[in-house]
Amino acid sequence: MNVLKLVPNLELAQQAEQVGLNEFILRPLTRSDIADVISLEPQIFPRGWSRALVESEFENPCSVRLGIFLGLELAGYSFSRIVEDEFNLLNIGVKLPHRGIGLGQVLLQAVLKEAQNRGSTVIFLEVRESNKLAQKIYQKAGFRITGKRPSYYSDNSETALIMELPFL
Ligand SMILES: CC(C)(COP(=O)(O)OP(=O)(O)OC[C@H]1O[C@@H](n2cnc3c(N)ncnc32)[C@H](O)[C@@H]1OP(=O)(O)O)[C@@H](O)C(=O)NCCC(=O)NCCS
Repeated sequence: MNVLKLVPNLELAQQAEQVGLNEFILRPLTRSDIADVISLEPQIFPRGWSRALVESEFENPCSVRLGIFLGLELAGYSFSRIVEDEFNLLNIGVKLPHRGIGLGQVLLQAVLKEAQNRGSTVIFLEVRESNKLAQKIYQKAGFRITGKRPSYYSDNSETALIMELPFL
């Protein structure tokens, strides 16, 4: 099989090699990806976004959407919003069969790069206190816990941890 590697920079390519990936594509999601995102949402996130919410992100000028593809298959994606110099990572997810091979971390690095390229001074996110795996990849990328929002999630009143990574 041909090795197809379209990455924004060498740093990401090297990181992908370190985690054993030799074939992936990173690119912004476009409207042609909406159907795939909608079908993956409930598989990736226990409380995934509705069709209307996904579609509205594609209309939002503040939205930044990145996908990671294995061949033509959408394997994971991330939605963020940029407001002035702050970058808010809303979600990041990888399809179940492809978890644990580094795609999430490569995608996260691409999000960080995008935030920096757009001149953000800080990237922040909220994550469920119980979501230790996500916290692990955020911490590995340099995020630190800066606060808590008790009862933030309406479905189970779970606390959200606020994590931030400033760009110096
Ligand atoms: C969080 C998430 C995006 C990580 O994606 P991923 O591609 O599996 O992540 P990676 O393979 O890059 O790294 C996962 C890390 O957790 C570790 N890990 C531990 N248990 C694991 C498991 N059951 N599955 C996958 N990784 C596991 C891996 O070893 C790796 O750590 P390491 O780099 O120190 O070895 C993915 O688990 C996911 O989509 N979760 C559901 C959605 C979610 O909770 N998103 C975050 C909040 S919006």
